[in-house]
Amino acid sequence: MGLKKDLVVYQVYPRSFKDSNDDGIGDIKGITSKLDYIKSLGVDVIWLSPVYCSPNDDNGYDISDYLNINPEFGNMRDMNKLISEANLRGLKIIMDLVINHTSDEHVWFKKSVANDPKYKDYYIWRDTPNNWTSFFGGKAWDKIGDKYYLHLFSKKQPDLNWHNPDVMEDIQKVMKFWLDKGIYGFRCDVINIIFKSSLENGKKHFVLTGKEHYHQQEGMHKILKQLRKDVLNHYDTFTVGETVMVTPKQANDLIYPENQELDMVFSFSHMEVDQISNKWFKTKFRPKKLMKVLSTWQEEVYWNANYLENHDQPRSISRFGDDKIYHKQSAKMLATLLMTLRGTPYIYQGQEIGMTNGDFKTMSEFQDVETHTIYKIAKKLGIPKSLRFKMMQKTSRDNARTPMQWTKQGGFSKVDPWLKQNPNTKNINVLDQEHDHDSILNYYRKLINIRKHTKVLRYGDFESILQSKSIYIFKRFDKKNEAIIILNMSRKAQKIKSICEGKLLISNIKKNEYNCVLSPYETRIYIKEISHD
Ligand code: NOJ
Repeated sequence: MGLKKDLVVYQVYPRSFKDSNDDGIGDIKGITSKLDYIKSLGVDVIWLSPVYCSPNDDNGYDISDYLNINPEFGNMRDMNKLISEANLRGLKIIMDLVINHTSDEHVWFKKSVANDPKYKDYYIWRDTPNNWTSFFGGKAWDKIGDKYYLHLFSKKQPDLNWHNPDVMEDIQKVMKFWLDKGIYGFRCDVINIIFKSSLENGKKHFVLTGKEHYHQQEGMHKILKQLRKDVLNHYDTFTVGETVMVTPKQANDLIYPENQELDMVFSFSHMEVDQISNKWFKTKFRPKKLMKVLSTWQEEVYWNANYLENHDQPRSISRFGDDKIYHKQSAKMLATLLMTLRGTPYIYQGQEIGMTNGDFKTMSEFQDVETHTIYKIAKKLGIPKSLRFKMMQKTSRDNARTPMQWTKQGGFSKVDPWLKQNPNTKNINVLDQEHDHDSILNYYRKLINIRKHTKVLRYGDFESILQSKSIYIFKRFDKKNEAIIILNMSRKAQKIKSICEGKLLISNIKKNEYNCVLSPYETRIYIKEISHD
C-alpha cells in the first residue's frame, strides 16, 4: 500500500459539522469554511459521510440520486469548490459509497415498482417474504402492491440486486463520475453484505435472522474484484470497507493486496466489548476486554482501519473514558491509543476536542430512525419505559451526531440546529481549546505530528506487553527503533513494575518521566532511538 500507510483520516458528518446558511443543517460551504481547521490538525484525508440527494430517512444513507447533491447541503458547484479547496491544501476527500441499497425514492426503485423491463430486477422482489430480519429491527420485507421487496435496513432503503449486471454497470458509472471529479476513493457502506446468495429462510437468530445467506459471500468478493479491475485501478485510490460481523481472517481475505479488493476494513469486535448479545444491552466497560480484542486484531490483521468512534457509535470518551472528572486525561489517553495502534487512524469530528454523548432528555429529542424503531420494538417486548429510554440515551447513534462544538455558544448555526446541541459546548469547544496549549485539541495535533515523524509508529510491528485489569502496554518496533506505549485505562492510580529506559516522547501528565506510578488515565509513549525521516 506504500504511502497510504502514512495517512490519517478525519471523518466529517456534514449535517452536524457547520451550517453556513443558517437553516440549522450543516452544509458543504460550512465544511469548506473549516478546511483550514481540518488541515491544522495534520490529517491528510477527509471522509465525507453522504452528501448525495436523499429524503433523509437514514440521514443520507438512503440515496435517491448518486450524481447530485442534497439541496440541504448545497449544490454541485459547492461540491466542486470543496474538492478543489481541499486539494489546494493537500487534503484528499473520500466519499461514502452506499451500494447495498438505495432510497425507495430513487428513480431505479420507482421504475422497478412500475415493472419497467430494464429496472424490474434492480431490487429483490418476492411473492412471499422469507424470515429475514432487518439491522434496524423487525422484518426485512415490505409490500408494494402484491409483491414484497427486501430491505436489510429501513423500509425506505430497498436492497439492490447484485445478481443483475446492469446494477454493476450503473454503480461503476457512479464511481467514475466522482473519481473523475478528483475524489480519492470511497468508504464502502456495509460492503460485506451486498451479495445475497439465496433467499431461503435463515436460521433463527436473536438479532439478525438470514445473515448466513448474505454475509461475506463469494459473490461479494467477485463484485469487489470487478470494481477494482474495471474502475479503481484506473485511478490513484483509497478504499475502506465497512464490514459488519467480520473476523480477522475474513478481513484479511478482503484486504490482502494480492486479492485486489479493498485497502482496509472497519471491523466491529472492539465496539462490542461493552455489550451483551447486542448493542442495545450495554454492560459495564472492562478495559481488559478492549485490550484483548485490539491486540488480536493488531496481531492477526494485515492492516487495520483504527477507530474509536464514528457517526454510528456513542462517543468514545463517554464509553471507554470518563466524560466528567477525568475528561481531559481520558480523552488524551484514548487519543494516544488510537494514534499508536498499527494501521490507519480515523478521527471522528469532535473527538479531537473530547465531545461527549448528547444530552437527550426525552424521546422526541432523538432524530435517528434506528433509535425510534428499536424503542418501539423494546416497548413491544415489554421493556419498561425508563429502562428503554436509558438504553437509547447510552446507545443511540444521535450521541455522535450532535452539532460540532465550535464555541461556548455552539457556533454551529445561528438558529436552532436539527439535533439538540449539547449544552456542554460551554466548556468543551474548539475556540477555547485553540487558546489552551495543553488542550485535547492540541494534544491530537502533537500526536499526529509525532506519528508523521516517527516511522516506527507508522510501520512498526505490534507486540502486546501487558494487558491487566486496567493497564495496557504495547510495543511498536522495527529493526532500529522501539516505541513503548503505556495506557492507564482507569480512574485509579496504578503502579507498574518497571518503566522503559527510552526517551519520553509525550505524556498527558506532567511529572517525573521515570515514575512507576501512573495517575488516573495517564498515558506515555517512550521511544528508543527516534528516527526522524
Ligand atoms: C452503515 C452506516 O454507517 C449507517 O449510518 C447506515 O445507517 C447503514 N450503514 C445503512 O446504510
